[in-house]
Amino acid sequence: MSSSLKARITSVGHFLPDDKLTNADLERLVETNDEWIRTRTGITERRVLKDPDKGTSYMAERAAREAIEKAGVDPTEIDAILVATVTPDYMFPATACLVQKRLGCTNAFGYDILAACSGFVYALSTGAMMIESGRYKKVLVIGADKMSSIIDYTDRATCIIFGDGAGAVLLEGTEDGTGVQDFIQRCDGDEDELLCMRGGGSKNPASHATVEEKMHFIRQDGKTVFKKATEAMADISMEIMEKNTLDSGDVAWLVPHQANQRIIDATARRMGLGTDKVMSNIAFYGNTTAATIPLCLYDWQDKLNRGDNLILSAFGGGFTAGALYLKW
Ligand code: UT7
Repeated sequence: MSSSLKARITSVGHFLPDDKLTNADLERLVETNDEWIRTRTGITERRVLKDPDKGTSYMAERAAREAIEKAGVDPTEIDAILVATVTPDYMFPATACLVQKRLGCTNAFGYDILAACSGFVYALSTGAMMIESGRYKKVLVIGADKMSSIIDYTDRATCIIFGDGAGAVLLEGTEDGTGVQDFIQRCDGDEDELLCMRGGGSKNPASHATVEEKMHFIRQDGKTVFKKATEAMADISMEIMEKNTLDSGDVAWLVPHQANQRIIDATARRMGLGTDKVMSNIAFYGNTTAATIPLCLYDWQDKLNRGDNLILSAFGGGFTAGALYLKW
């Protein structure tokens, strides 16, 4: 083990279902309109995995397969698989185990990380520590969510926001100064009811009553979450910049969780970054929860240069928050 050993993203993969759910489609489902959705959220369409036989593990596997094939890595070389998700195929076994089997990662162990929209940042920091320890050489970090499986398509407060998708990165060790430099992570369970799914766990196991009361769907107090998210994402992004003595001129890209374009803009403003330095694809995919950040990395990978300073930043249910400083 070397103290200069860091975890570098050596490959990125993704998966997006073909089916699109547009604002016009939503106008037919709930009392809403395209203009309201676009101006309040920045979203014009989302992807939906319609095949009822396919869960989150299918998308996670597809994204991870692309990442390892691009890297030219044999599946047997993978040491660990971390899947960030709030929509696992099952409560258990972990989605990571399903991915491990289908990819043929016969030497890997894995588990799921449940931290809602901050899940990918949490999983990436965990994967980075595995690499830095010297114990593991190749770690797959996946963010994947089939949000359509927990959305009530009669609830306009949530159904307009979320979409399905997956992104995956391969982490390998490097001593050239690039890779994960630092991260800050927080959680605050004080107001857990503001963004949650109450049914299906050990507190409210599935029953006729939980189904009738719609407890297997996501519930959100949008206005309050919006305020908290706007403040927390900007705060934690500034904190990681200050901790690493970075000013806005040092940051090549903000890679924000894609919850609402107005939250992304407010975070960038506080960091002193122009829109040309902010990754945003919320218009096309909506909020894919744990998948938003790796999907941004996938879409922007050709524009990234070795050594670019990236700030990844997220806020989500829990509440959870995370910011990670990555040298590309
Ligand atoms: O990713 C995890 C973290 N999640 C987030 O960060 C999401 C945070 N929240 C949000 O993005 C926003 O709060 C929403 C997009 C959910 C809602 O936007 P908002 O600007 O906070 O709207 P609002 O809830 O304050 O509602 C404003 C108005 C209300 O009407 P009145 O009372 O002003 O007459 C709502 O009834 O807009 C109405 N409204 C809608 N109208 C058309 C609420 N939802 C809709 C809708 N279509 N879908």
